[in-house]
Amino acid sequence: MRLDKFLANAKCGSRKDVKKIIKAGNVLVNDNKVTDEAFNVVENDRITINNKELIVKEFVYYMLNKPSGYISATIDNYHKTVVQLIDDYHEIFPVGRLDIDTVGLLFLTNDGEFCHNLTSPKKHVNKKYYVEFIGKYYPEIEEEFNKGITLKDFTTLPGSIEKISENSCYVTIQEGKFHQVKLMMKACNLEVTYLKRVSFGNIVLDESLKEGEYRELTLEEINILNK
Ligand code: URA
Repeated sequence: MRLDKFLANAKCGSRKDVKKIIKAGNVLVNDNKVTDEAFNVVENDRITINNKELIVKEFVYYMLNKPSGYISATIDNYHKTVVQLIDDYHEIFPVGRLDIDTVGLLFLTNDGEFCHNLTSPKKHVNKKYYVEFIGKYYPEIEEEFNKGITLKDFTTLPGSIEKISENSCYVTIQEGKFHQVKLMMKACNLEVTYLKRVSFGNIVLDESLKEGEYRELTLEEINILNK
């Protein structure tokens, strides 16, 4: 990618501004001064501009502990979005959706293929939720979840439910339809009062992340998710 384009994408100024900064000799690529705005930067190049350091990366992958009050979108006129929580210059988007009041594990990336592989209904990737609810848990519910729950317009793929206490449980589902866990619970006369995603595929939420905090996925985690 051209150096001026990279810097403009990285919000170091408009394309015009960054061209001036480059011409003035204020940009280093791997510690060498570069004054050619069309210089080609490649993966892992280290760019220094106004004492700020940037590493060139095509794809980025984050794990966020989503807080309540944020919507799973890139831009919105009324609500704060999960993308606003991440300090990154790439055009990142959430991998699937969590409701505004749902908390917990959410991946964000700019890699469309990675996102597709994790969210396509055909891939059957398990998502596990910790759920608090109002209502009476009954033993047959486990069999009902295993069979799939019939909702208004579709029957879910087989899922599972595991009691923790009188008013909490884990639910695992394969798809990620709108309000799916809440609707499955409602179909069994249980009202969800708190919902937290604790795992996605084989990756568990890093419990050292407080709500609103995030970190990059490790290479190992990315490889596990890509399998
Ligand atoms: N199911 C829901 O009902 N809500 C979510 O945010 C995720 C799964």
